[in-house]
Amino acid sequence: MKERVVIVTGAAAGIGLATARRFAQDGCRVASWDVKDGEAQAEGMFQKVDVTSADSVAQAVEEVVAKWGGLNVLVNNAGILRDAQLIKYKDGAVAGMMTDEQFDAVISVNLKGVFTCTRAVVPQMIAGGGGVILNASSVVGLYGNFGQTNYVATKAGVIGMTKVWARELGKFGIRVNAVAPGFIATEMVRQMPDKILAGAVGHTPLGRMGQPEDVANAYAFLASDQASFITGTVLSVDGGAVTGT
Ligand code: NAI
Repeated sequence: MKERVVIVTGAAAGIGLATARRFAQDGCRVASWDVKDGEAQAEGMFQKVDVTSADSVAQAVEEVVAKWGGLNVLVNNAGILRDAQLIKYKDGAVAGMMTDEQFDAVISVNLKGVFTCTRAVVPQMIAGGGGVILNASSVVGLYGNFGQTNYVATKAGVIGMTKVWARELGKFGIRVNAVAPGFIATEMVRQMPDKILAGAVGHTPLGRMGQPEDVANAYAFLASDQASFITGTVLSVDGGAVTGT
């Protein structure tokens, strides 16, 4: 992987940060993107980028190409949660619902952001003779989850886009895969109630939460030449949670 140019979105925290560090350890030039302040890796740079803004993304891609002459890998990791039940019913009456704002915010980062970033990098990858796109799905994109209409729609949608792009871009030497993490110990998961976390670990055959590095290792493998015949797939990194459900 030495000297390959890698963009990681949502790289200020959690899985994205661990992934940026992992690629940097492997000798890559890493562009770390986030809306929050974050760290530049060795040989790398940090860029303030909002994946929901096509202009912000286009400018950042231009800077990456100007600095390193091309790009090889995009990890579409940025993601948010805005959980609520579709309709919350209590004492015989509607007590709440998922709002349009909650639905649209999650779609715009987790689904449209993946589309925007991928569309921006593909011409550069074609010009460079190939590349790798890696998308953050989730186990909940495979089996659904209470209170996550918006989030699950994006994580299932990302799997669909992964399969479309694998078909469309294979002829250019571009591989496209998704990763479906289970419960990984990051800020996003720490927002969830303890009862839900304990339940999730209970349904995980390996009996623990994952670490951000577990997912970073999967991205590193899928980006490497060891995965050169793998495209259009979804790799679960979940301690067996899907089988345990
Ligand atoms: P996190 O909340 O720790 O980090 C996400 C990062 O994305 C944050 O630094 C945030 O500022 C950034 N971000 C949010 N909106 C952005 C935007 N518009 N543009 C650029 N950056 C933005 O989340 P975590 O847990 O590391 O998750 C990373 C990815 O993995 C997400 O897509 C998440 O859905 C997915 N995932 C996480 C799981 C977990 O258990 N933590 C399980 C399955 C999937």
